Amino acid sequence: MGFQKPPGTQDFLPGSVDTWQFVESKARDICRRFNFREIRTPIFEATELFKRGVGETTDIVEKEMYTFTDRGDRSMTLRPEGTAGVVRAFVENKLYGEPDLTKLYYIGPMFRYERQQAGRYRQFHQFGVEALGSADPALDVEVIALGYAFYTEVGLEGVRVEINSVGTPAVRASYREKLLAFLEPKRDQLCEDCRSRMDRNPLRVLDCKVDQHHFVGAPSILDSLDEECRTHFEAVRRDLSAMGIPFDINPRLVRGLDYYTHTAFEFKAEGIGAIDTIGGGGRYNGLVGEIGGPDQPGVGFGIGLERTVLLLDSQNADPERLHQVDVYMIGLGEAAEREISRLIYGLRQKGLSAERDYQGRKMKAQLKSADRLQARFAAILGDDELARGEIALKEMATGEQRFVPLDNLAAELSGQRKS
Ligand code: HAM
Repeated sequence: MGFQKPPGTQDFLPGSVDTWQFVESKARDICRRFNFREIRTPIFEATELFKRGVGETTDIVEKEMYTFTDRGDRSMTLRPEGTAGVVRAFVENKLYGEPDLTKLYYIGPMFRYERQQAGRYRQFHQFGVEALGSADPALDVEVIALGYAFYTEVGLEGVRVEINSVGTPAVRASYREKLLAFLEPKRDQLCEDCRSRMDRNPLRVLDCKVDQHHFVGAPSILDSLDEECRTHFEAVRRDLSAMGIPFDINPRLVRGLDYYTHTAFEFKAEGIGAIDTIGGGGRYNGLVGEIGGPDQPGVGFGIGLERTVLLLDSQNADPERLHQVDVYMIGLGEAAEREISRLIYGLRQKGLSAERDYQGRKMKAQLKSADRLQARFAAILGDDELARGEIALKEMATGEQRFVPLDNLAAELSGQRKS
């Protein structure tokens, strides 16, 4: 019996990986322009970090973590998200001692034991950013703008931004009371999930997909905000509008992680089955302290790359994203073939993508390979051309053929290369 990949994981094969590379390179380029620097942290961390960081009563910590005991009897967990590890690294490496803000990004795998469905995996990948060291609402806006720019620049259409303020822990405590007073009389009509959330994490009740009709008239957290929270939220809204970033206010937006304070936001789009959230984040002013560091505020997001790629592939197949071979080199006869080996090495060193045959196939079969690879050109060298110091260059799309001097081949191909 053969082996199969674990449920909820994927093999990214050469044919589908082009979109991944395209999306990742856009993420890196946007981060460069916004001056976010890359950080790479371990894929597993002490279990306690996620319990403290993400929150004991969240679905992630209660049901979804890949936790194991290592050979030294320590409890370890494959990271279910990126923020806790980045904040741990920020504290452990004392990055807070730097005079400037710490603006970081990461791209990598995360692990959650979730029920499989379209757009939901057990190993998935996030592009995330974390900006630490300032409570300025302008930084919330910068982070939202960066995420929005990412979706725009990869070419996704129909992405919406939803924002909310989840206040401070004190605001949430007083809102929790009001919300429970509203929910308690309806307890028996609510689903089992809601009833259990009422006891553990009442704000998450409003997230329920099936019971929405029971929540009409529920108190809004926005009415419970104190002066500081209100001012912060107003500034975020004002600056987003000034920058021309469209957004909706969703007072029911509660994220699935406990660390958020003030701004919480999500990126949404239709097109992946029942799932519409493709990225999310917010401000977390208490997290650094919670993880044992000084009192330093932060804000960030995590964008799901599977969901981005799924949507992109379903919306359009832009050839600009696809891997392209510039030229397929064909040598006819022993001397020509030897020359091809030398030439192809030179082309590759000059930055061109080039391929050749290694199976001794006839010219027709080689031209078919060039077609399958969608090579822009086939270059064909026979003994006659070799003697003249020329090579036949055939443009695959039009079939047009001409001779170019061997010494000019790289320049000819580069000149016609799409940048
Ligand atoms: P999150 O909302 O749990 O936030 O995840 C962010 C994104 O990761 C989701 O919107 C989704 O696109 C993707 N995602 C989550 N779970 C899965 C899954 N099982 N399969 C596929 N994609 C998934 C966080 O993780 C926070 N750390 C974000 C953050 C950073 N907040 C502040 N800084």
